[in-house]
Amino acid sequence: MTELKRNEAARRVEELRREIERHNYRYYVMDAPVVSDAEFDRMVAELAALEKAYPDLVTPSSPTQRVGGAPREGFTSARHFTPMLSLANAFGADELRDFDRRVRGALPGEKTAYVVEPKIDGLAVSLTYRHGEFVRGATRGDGETGEDITPNLRTVRSLPLRLLRDAPPLVEVRGEAYMSKDAFMKLNERREEAGEPPFANPRNAAAGSLRQLDPGITANRKLDLFVYGVGYAEGVAAASHHETLAWLAAQGFRINEQFRLFEDIKQAVDYCLTWQQKRFDLPYTIDGMVVKLDSLEQQQRLGTTLKSPRWAIAFKFPPEEAVTTLKEILVSVGRTGVLTPTAVFRPVHLAGTTVIRATLHNEDLIREKDIRIGDRIVVHKAGDVIPEVVRSMPETRTGRETVFTMPRNCPVCGAGTVREEEEVALRCPNISCPARLKESLLHFASRNAMDIRGLGRALVEQLVEKGMVESVADVYTLSEDALMRLERMGPKSAANVVGEIEASKKRDLSRLIFALGIRHVGERAGKVLAGRFGTLERLMSVTEEELTAVPEIGPKIAASMRAFFAEPQNRAVITRLINAGVNIKSTAAAAAARPLAGKVFVLTGALTGLTRDEAAARIELLGGRVASGVSRRTDYVVVGENPGSKLDKARELGVAVLDENDLRTLLAPRT
Ligand code: IVH
Repeated sequence: MTELKRNEAARRVEELRREIERHNYRYYVMDAPVVSDAEFDRMVAELAALEKAYPDLVTPSSPTQRVGGAPREGFTSARHFTPMLSLANAFGADELRDFDRRVRGALPGEKTAYVVEPKIDGLAVSLTYRHGEFVRGATRGDGETGEDITPNLRTVRSLPLRLLRDAPPLVEVRGEAYMSKDAFMKLNERREEAGEPPFANPRNAAAGSLRQLDPGITANRKLDLFVYGVGYAEGVAAASHHETLAWLAAQGFRINEQFRLFEDIKQAVDYCLTWQQKRFDLPYTIDGMVVKLDSLEQQQRLGTTLKSPRWAIAFKFPPEEAVTTLKEILVSVGRTGVLTPTAVFRPVHLAGTTVIRATLHNEDLIREKDIRIGDRIVVHKAGDVIPEVVRSMPETRTGRETVFTMPRNCPVCGAGTVREEEEVALRCPNISCPARLKESLLHFASRNAMDIRGLGRALVEQLVEKGMVESVADVYTLSEDALMRLERMGPKSAANVVGEIEASKKRDLSRLIFALGIRHVGERAGKVLAGRFGTLERLMSVTEEELTAVPEIGPKIAASMRAFFAEPQNRAVITRLINAGVNIKSTAAAAAARPLAGKVFVLTGALTGLTRDEAAARIELLGGRVASGVSRRTDYVVVGENPGSKLDKARELGVAVLDENDLRTLLAPRT
């Protein structure tokens, strides 16, 4: 009897894993999902519930294990089966042709072909699969020995935890883990919001995310993976590099779709040069192309030097830099009052676009780099995305350049600027500064906050300048009549905006928290806080200790929250938002408040920490049901001291058995 229920669960677990893997592959490797996110989440939730009831069914390669697991003390080292070499570089077409001459010189009279593929700018990884299961992931390290980062790599969704077909006993796959330009920009936005230093480029972001002792952090970073080769294998039949790539793709790996096979070097060179131009169109950064001799047997005969194979070479793109002239440094005031200097220069073509400005971050940086107005400057794009001033060129100065200093007064409202202790930033302290108000309104209305379409910069400028809006709460007092009197506002657009404003009242609490623009409180913190505390009133009354007790909420966020809510002006704005009918409840919290929905419990034996009635009340509060007798429909039997026959019955039916501690965990508040 017991076996049967367990067997049934085991069968369902396997079925769910196959399905989840298939959808995961469709979504992250093929980029062509066939089910909704909700349906996918439901399958993962069912699998997680089954694994919780039958912990012995959990395996390291179960899709539920992608979340990260517990932080570790340090990394252990991982010896590579064969050394992870690096590539020799070719700068320019001539050096590629030299490479070809060397290759053909060593293979006289033989036919040769090359595969050319993008050189991904990420972090080299080694992935070991035993009998088709992902068992070890490692960094390159010194080439002989790397660091074991298996739990971190498990969180990368495009990495298959199990191979798809005819898995060999042992295969070590090599590839590049990276972060897309888009994920990199979003991550940096989040970091700046949280007061953390941004990453310089996607490669650093990928490396920083993978080399985390806490894989839970890695799981929150959008990392991706392309594989490009096999380091060591028993039983992989491929005669060429392009066949290896096909084999890898058939096993469920993501390979780069831009690879091409060429019979002669001229076409290979052309292909490299084409990508030198087109590279900025890709959603990820590449720093060159890799040219590889296709035949594995020929590769073998050519062999390697100590550092790199003789059969492959990296065609490196020249770094994208441009020289221009710095015309002026503008100072803008952000939502939190921070003054940010921006370099405005003569237009230059850079990494696929025309660029005219770049942030200079703060005064210290301008001083450090000795950047003066009128200077010739070198500009580039960090990770092909973010324009930056690399350096000035003092050797070209004429003497007419001027040293820049930050203004003593806010360039918008004239208030004296202040520099807070331990901060590099200069601030406008006036909370009614029109610049701050405009930015606060734009943030409040932005897509991921209250999502009020139509409340864009042009409208916000007018509303603030005409004195129609003095805080975000005033947004909810705007009428069609009032809006219609503004420039570029017909009756139709006015009605639309009012409709959007009305609709925004229903947004979830998590968005409202984010929309308030509290320092260090980003979208993620908004979600976590809404989920944990449920209502805005509750959130306004919690202590700093209660805040820091929430996972992911650190002292910086907690202090900032308290300071924000302690400010009478902010409290007044919130009261007005509430009176206007803005929703201050969390729907996620409501769902999270019933985590035991549909679960049937049976209690037996004496509990020590709470009475059976109390336990039953708590279970019901969280959406569960308490039944008196054990049946096949029972989800959990909770066993106290001196349990009766119900425990035997549970064992007989294979129902999950919990002790008081397990119950406590289930009943504990979650976020
Ligand atoms: S093949 C024997 N192919 O570039 C070395 N490497 O110095 C075989 N890389 O860190 C490397 N994209 O991780 C190869 N398509 C690609 C690549 C690639 C990026 C990285 C590699 C290593 C460096 C080579």
